[in-house]
Amino acid sequence: RRVSRSGGDLLRMTPAPRMRVLKSPAAVRRQVRAWRAEGTRTAFVPTMGYFHDGHLSLMRRARKLADHLVVSIFVNPTQFAPGEDFATYPRDMGKDRLLTEKVPVDILFTPDERAIYGDGCQTFVTPQALAKRMCGLSRPIFFQGVATVVAKLFHIVNPHVAVFGEKDFQQLTIIRRMVKDLNFDVNIIGAATVREPDGLAMSSRNVFLSEKEREDALALSSGLSSVQEAFGEGERSHAALQARL
Ligand code: PAF
Repeated sequence: RRVSRSGGDLLRMTPAPRMRVLKSPAAVRRQVRAWRAEGTRTAFVPTMGYFHDGHLSLMRRARKLADHLVVSIFVNPTQFAPGEDFATYPRDMGKDRLLTEKVPVDILFTPDERAIYGDGCQTFVTPQALAKRMCGLSRPIFFQGVATVVAKLFHIVNPHVAVFGEKDFQQLTIIRRMVKDLNFDVNIIGAATVREPDGLAMSSRNVFLSEKEREDALALSSGLSSVQEAFGEGERSHAALQARL
């Protein structure tokens, strides 16, 4: 099962050990340090939980990239503005745990707020121009919260590789830039968006959509498919492609 560099055949025949659910950053750090000392590689998928097939596809992708897989579940308060859905963000730790066991995941890291932010946070990572457009216009603190927590999680998990969804393309771009700007030694992989049969991108927040909103949301995937089709047929004019949205 494992992709170990040494003793691969023997390890492949060994049944997978049970997934460990760890709340403590120190315990995660200890385990990853031991794996590194053995010369094996760790992949990481940070999440806010409430898993759907999109999350599971990130984990399966990550699983193939290293010997060990760490997945975190942390609904990060600093990326929610007052009045946003932090309190009501969907959570289901029991189901998430069962789903991750099947991937399989080696460590499910489920820190609480105190483990990540202690008694407050005085230091933030603030992405600049890339965070001021698109989603950043309506959510001015969002990308600072994301960059800060991802930087903290990278310091705790110290992975060789981390996988993020292309669904959140601006987030992926900002994380790649943060890794470059702050000299993190981690390879960032973007994984393709997983969609419902009718084209809607899978998202934990889809449960909040009314029937009408869900129908309206399909405009996004149909617009993008139409642009892709025109591009495939050779259209290169930005205005003409944009007009299809
Ligand atoms: O995409 C998400 O689920 C979150 O923004 C992330 C990257 C886990 C940071 O909290």
